[in-house]
Parts: sequence; structure tokens; C-alpha cells
Amino acid sequence: MKAVVISSPGAPSVLKLEDRPEPSFEEDEVLIEVHAAGVNRPDVAQRLGKYPAPPGVSAEIPGLEVAGIVAHCGAGVTRWKRGDRVCALVAGGGYADFVPVKAGQCLPIPGQLGFTEAAGLPETIFTVWHNVFQRGALKEGETLLVHGGSSGIGITAIQLAKAIGAKVLVTVGSTEKGEACLNLGADQYINYKTTDFRAALPPNSVDVILDMVGGDYFAGNIDLLKPDGRLVYINAMQGSLVSLDLWKVMQKRIQITGSTLRARESGFKIALSAEIEKYVWPIIESGAFKSVVYNTFPYSAAAAAHELMESSKHIGKIILVND
Ligand SMILES: NC(=O)c1ccc[n+]([C@@H]2O[C@H](COP(=O)([O-])OP(=O)(O)OC[C@H]3O[C@@H](n4cnc5c(N)ncnc54)[C@H](OP(=O)(O)O)[C@@H]3O)[C@@H](O)[C@H]2O)c1
Repeated sequence: MKAVVISSPGAPSVLKLEDRPEPSFEEDEVLIEVHAAGVNRPDVAQRLGKYPAPPGVSAEIPGLEVAGIVAHCGAGVTRWKRGDRVCALVAGGGYADFVPVKAGQCLPIPGQLGFTEAAGLPETIFTVWHNVFQRGALKEGETLLVHGGSSGIGITAIQLAKAIGAKVLVTVGSTEKGEACLNLGADQYINYKTTDFRAALPPNSVDVILDMVGGDYFAGNIDLLKPDGRLVYINAMQGSLVSLDLWKVMQKRIQITGSTLRARESGFKIALSAEIEKYVWPIIESGAFKSVVYNTFPYSAAAAAHELMESSKHIGKIILVND
């Protein structure tokens, strides 16, 4: 099969389209013929050699989410049959003609979406559902602040939070990104390049913060949270070592949490899939959630897709199309 491989750690040009053996699959897995694969920031970290694949997962083929057709089913698979249109969260190996995945981690492509739109759903929806709604316990009427509002993660968090009736504030790096967030339903944006979010928002005004920045945002986040607020980390792009005033945690009863999705056991991901199909798929099918595809690239131009992601010019998802 064809696969985009990381030929050695380094710049986007290390991504090469090469031939690899078709992967095998287990009894409880399906083999997906990939039509489109989402590009995510963690793929860039993996390409740079900073985000190793979990045991048993292809270290050289990146790709955490795909959409395609079920090509083969393991002997124990009952839900799917050959030819079904699915999208799936995978732990790696998505930038290829075929990828194996636990049957329970596949979801039917919702509504009228094509492969390109569907490929951009799993990674951000699984991450946002777990972190904002399960860990952060965001509820109707509460206020969510999302740092990196125009990221793939951000556009998903905005739309799901609005769908349950929350107020959504975002930080972004440009007016254009801010306007795009407003168009997706965000209530307010702060361009962090011109305005300090700590000055723009009143203290004690936010219930849940989803942060991928870390570093010196930490102290500001703590001040912005209301009593019983929840601070959820999914990355620490500006640094993971911070200092904490424990009195503020005690006085406001703040919960600080976070998670990384990729290395979680398949049982967790299967349970998350079931919850997402129950609660999020109806939102997509109702038309209240849009798959925002910023740009597509063929597998042969995977390097250009990574260059775009690293430029941070994109708003929404970057998708590799296997044509
Ligand atoms: N924990 C998990 O399970 C998990 C799963 C998936 C993704 N993630 C993380 O979630 C984040 C978003 O992922 P994604 O795939 O949606 O990425 P993405 O679309 O590339 O978004 C990242 C955004 O963050 C902003 N940004 C980039 N570098 C930054 C920096 N050094 N400091 C501050 N902001 C920066 C940029 O927007 P502006 O121009 O507006 O700054 C950029 O658009 C990534 O950090 C990723 O590693 C975590």
C-alpha cells in the first residue's frame, strides 16, 4: 500500500510517500480503506521526534483520524460489514491506504458528510468531549474560555459548547481568526497579539478554561476562573512548568486537570465513541455543527500540509485526501 512515512525526524520535507506492506488486523478490528486523513498538531510533534507512538502503533506513519470504507472485518466484528462508510480515531498510521482500528472506535459517517469533512471529526471531537464535557463538566448557562479558538480543537469546542447552551469566549492570533470564531457561534474573541486576555476579561468570570498554551497563561487562567471553576490542559505549547498559588485553589475550590488522548487504552476510546455517537452525532446530523475544512492536500503533498499547520495560518482543519 501507499503510506506517508516520517523518513527521519525533522522538517516537513522528511515526509515521503512510499510503499509499505498492508497492515494486519485483529479479531476485534476492521481494516479501513482510507479516503481522507485529518492532520493534527500532534502529527507535527511526532514528525519532529517529540511525540513517540504508543507501543504497537506504527512509529513511522503518522495520522490520528481517518474516514473511509470498511475493507475487511475481523472474525469477532458484528457491527460493521465491508463497504460501510466510517470515520475513526486511530492511534497512528492514518496517512496510508489502509489502517486497522478497533471496531468500537469506528463511527458511521454522520449526515450527508463526505469523506473529507468526516476525516476531520474524530480527533478533535474525542478530545473536546472528554476534556470540556467529561473532565471540565461544562453545563448549559456556564462560560467556557478556549485558548486557540481557531485551531481544529477550538472550532470543535466552540460549536459543541454553543450546542449545549454555554457562553463561549476565545483567544486567537488575528482579527480574521476571531471573526471566523464568531461566525461559528463564539460570543467574544480576544486577539492576544493586541490585547492581554487577563485585562480584557474580568476576574472570576469563567467556569471552564480549555488551554493548550500553558506557560504564563496559567496564572491568568487561575484568576479568571469563578469559584468551583475547572482548568483543563491538553497541551503546554509555551511551557509546562508553572508556579501555583495554592491559596487561590483553596479559596476558589478550583479543579486543575487535563489529559492526552492518544495513549489511552482502547476500552476508554470505545466507551468514549459510544457516548459521542449518542450525544454528539445528533448535533452534527441536525446541522448545528459544521466540519470546517480549511484546505486539502493529496498524500504526495503531505509536507505542504504540515508546513501550513506550522505556519498557523489555517482556521479549522487540514485534511489529506487519498486520491
Ligand atoms: N491532549 C490531547 O489529547 C490533544 C489531542 C489533540 C490535540 N491536542 C493539542 O491541542 C492543540 C490544538 O491542536 P490542533 O490539531 O487543533 O492544532 P492547530 O489547528 O494547529 O491549532 C493550534 C493553534 O494554536 C495556536 N498556536 C500555535 N502555536 C502557538 C504557540 N506557541 N503559542 C500559542 N498559541 C499557539 C495557533 O493559533 P493562533 O494563531 O490563534 O495563535 C494555532 O492555530 C495542540 O496543541 C495539540 O497538541 C491535544
